[in-house]
Amino acid sequence: MPTWVQLVYLLCGVCFILALKGLSGPKTARNGNLLGAAAAVVGCILPFLYIDHLKNVPLILLAIVIGTVGGVYGARTVQMTQMPQMVALFNGVGGGAAALVALLELHEILGLADAGVDPAKFALAATAFTVAVGSVSFAGSIITFAKLQELMTGRPVIFPGLPILFGGSLLAAVVLAVLLVSDVALWIAIVLALVGLLIGVLLVLPVGGADVPIVISLLNAFTGLTVAAGGYVLSNTLLLIAGTLVGASGTFLTLLMARGMGRSVTNVLFGALKGGSTLGGGEASDRPVKSSSPEDVAIMLNYAERVIIVPGYGLAVAQAQHSLRELVDLLGERGVDVDYAIHPVAGRMPGHMNVLLAEAQVPYEQLKEMDDINGEFKDADVALVVGANDVVNPAAKTTPGAPIYGMPILNADEAKQVVFMKRSMRPGFAGIENELLFEPNTTLLFGDAKDTMGKLLNAVKAL
Ligand code: TAP
Repeated sequence: MPTWVQLVYLLCGVCFILALKGLSGPKTARNGNLLGAAAAVVGCILPFLYIDHLKNVPLILLAIVIGTVGGVYGARTVQMTQMPQMVALFNGVGGGAAALVALLELHEILGLADAGVDPAKFALAATAFTVAVGSVSFAGSIITFAKLQELMTGRPVIFPGLPILFGGSLLAAVVLAVLLVSDVALWIAIVLALVGLLIGVLLVLPVGGADVPIVISLLNAFTGLTVAAGGYVLSNTLLLIAGTLVGASGTFLTLLMARGMGRSVTNVLFGALKGGSTLGGGEASDRPVKSSSPEDVAIMLNYAERVIIVPGYGLAVAQAQHSLRELVDLLGERGVDVDYAIHPVAGRMPGHMNVLLAEAQVPYEQLKEMDDINGEFKDADVALVVGANDVVNPAAKTTPGAPIYGMPILNADEAKQVVFMKRSMRPGFAGIENELLFEPNTTLLFGDAKDTMGKLLNAVKAL
């Protein structure tokens, strides 16, 4: 590889790192994203410029066109609330592609071995890793996609013998990988890929409800490591750097999300086998609750001194962020002190509420992190919970057996009055009942959040 190409690859690697840095703040995220995307485009173009007699050019171009059209279409049409499943799909395709490239590379290695060139053991080990983990990532990501897209049940799927089958598959993968390194043969690699696919399915089936996004992030880290190993096999520095960055950031994200839910990653993955996973789905409760009209809640808000808004997944589903911002602005003009309390795992992806509210031009200073605002709920007149549920469920503090027990929550229950805006008595993502809904100082404002927020806004304007 000519030196200038290596230098450009290095520059692209630096751009990836700067892109990640940019993505860590709302003001710089867009530019960070563009920088990373530009570096990826340069990385794709480069092989056309320096490889002599590049083979299968029309096929490569066709693959790039298909990938670009699919990617652009997917990214443009996806709803923000469906982002986790899109990430799952893209991630799975990445892992699968890395595994396929490693299988093709093995084919080349076999050709060289036939010509008397002994393959390097480390390169073979990296190939075996790429085939196995890439297949796990592909199959696991497809199952997470199916769960979140409701193509199959979102609840944990467990059956007798699952742990033994899972353990046996892991053992088989290790044996096959060792065999592949000691005695290169394409059939071993193919069986290894099939076992990897089985492991991916078995890994994700028992994960349910609110735990699925964490597994997506974990599989993302797997794909990163696969791509890094693939970069080693192909002697491609950029793949090595990009894969390592994805592997490292995916691992951090997984740990941060698990911490945000007060869980360990092993509990997220295998909790269902001991009955400790979040469930997903769940029946609507028929216990009596107190409900109000937008006019009543408008009076409560208008004459409050301190109001804390708790946004959640339902706000994103309803796309009520613009009218919410208008309501908060209006209350602010009337002298009410209003802030937004942001839980680290509110919504379905990291930073979901920050992005949603930034889109509605909410000043960033009004968004208060959980640890900064939790002490203020006790002085708040009203906690207005808009489409959130699990992140204010006191079971996390009070019920040791609950799947969310140990998750840090927003102390909305300490406010003088709590108003929930939701459509029904169905539970949140974790699939468990929320006792706060039945407290005497809690009122429910039923309906789609966009619709009720509009009515609430008009009612406050009319006061
Ligand atoms: P949830 O607990 O899922 O509650 C969302 C609420 O929104 C539900 O009560 C739902 O009730 C309501 N809702 C849905 N659509 C609505 C609409 N159109 N209008 C009004 N209300 C609507 O959400 P949350 O409190 O944000 O908690 C997030 C969950 O995701 C947690 O369990 C968390 O652990 C999990 N999770 C998040 C992440 C990240 S990084 N964000 C990662 C992993 C797991 P109705 O159906 O009755 O309307």
